[in-house]
Amino acid sequence: MTPGMTLAPPPFDLERARRETPGCEEVLHFNNAGAALMPQPVLDATVGHLQLEARIGGYEAYDHARAAVERVYGATATLLGCAADEIAVVENATRAWDMAFYAVPLGPGDRVLTAVAEYASNYIAYLQVARRTGARIEAIPNDETGQLSVDALRRMADERVKLIAITHVPTNGGLVNPAAAVGRVARELGALYLLDACQSVGQMPLDVGALGCDMLSATGRKYLRGPRGTGLLYVRRGVLERLEPPFLDLHAAVWTAADRYEIRRDARRFENWEANVAGKVGLGVAIDYALGWGLDAIQARVRALADALRLRLAALPGVTVRDLGRERCGIVSFTVEGQTPEAIRERLARDRINVTVSSPRGTRLDMEARGLAGVVRASVHYYNSEAEVERFCAAVEASTARRPGEP
Ligand SMILES: Cc1ncc(COP(=O)(O)O)c(C=O)c1O
Repeated sequence: MTPGMTLAPPPFDLERARRETPGCEEVLHFNNAGAALMPQPVLDATVGHLQLEARIGGYEAYDHARAAVERVYGATATLLGCAADEIAVVENATRAWDMAFYAVPLGPGDRVLTAVAEYASNYIAYLQVARRTGARIEAIPNDETGQLSVDALRRMADERVKLIAITHVPTNGGLVNPAAAVGRVARELGALYLLDACQSVGQMPLDVGALGCDMLSATGRKYLRGPRGTGLLYVRRGVLERLEPPFLDLHAAVWTAADRYEIRRDARRFENWEANVAGKVGLGVAIDYALGWGLDAIQARVRALADALRLRLAALPGVTVRDLGRERCGIVSFTVEGQTPEAIRERLARDRINVTVSSPRGTRLDMEARGLAGVVRASVHYYNSEAEVERFCAAVEASTARRPGEP
């Protein structure tokens, strides 16, 4: 190769991605931030395990599937750049996040810094813990682009900050918060850093070392394309033993004497015994499937499609794209003048087009600050096509042409 020349990335094999996604035949799915369409190998592995359970018994099926269950830990470690014993697999991202958050020791006067676009379930937990402990919850203001301001964070930082807990990609839009820059501040400060990566995992490369986080939570069903009812928690080895899980059972701890127990030393201290084994097997396959495509290639494809969608939507009369921030991802949020987001979603659903509506219930601080009662959330994945972007925009345009109140 001539010095200075770079190789162009290989073209994305869209035909294969769609062929391996049976749902592509059924729907135009722009609800990947809700739950993405599972690829065939994930479906086969999950259903296959359920069938085995039905045939030979659940415990016995587990004995057969041990290697496949263990794979989810190894695959996640590769995905996030950590060790397998720093991973817990739980029911969903909320439970993963809760197990980490409620383990952080907080007392009166301690400060927890969070983001404006924080997810409701996290914020409700902050309010509960603030009420119980006397800790203070403070939202780090956004900068002029609408992303978390790292300068504001630096100004707020002092020795009373015990935890920085932010959402990487909020539930209601394409914003990507500067998570690695936040991690650098957390390290300088010596505060714990919990990152809600529920919506970013699977659509962009994530490396916990580069992010500088101590804990990270994620879900299986969104951009990872895994089965529902699966979630992941990373806890850095250096902080594991300082964090006592809020709940313990005979899997998280061993009952060593009538009056004693010992908590596991690995991240599985945050799990509990009974689990959706088929979900774990399927999630392992989903993560390997994502790794097979490559997270850089996935991110490039998702970004290109989302950028095209934003551009096309912004050109439609009456449509306002609502995504904030310097860096944007596969989630595209918008409003249509004179139409409620719910009416748009229902009209699109009649054309077998899937989107969701985000309301202030999910991200109250952010939606209230922007005076938004709701947005339509269209979230693309790499298996979506340029033709789908065109069809989607034509359907939105047809909706905008309707008078308010017209079905
Ligand atoms: C930013 C964010 N965090 C957490 C969650 C919760 O994830 P789960 O439903 O897997 O608990 C969501 C779900 O939409 C989310 O958008």
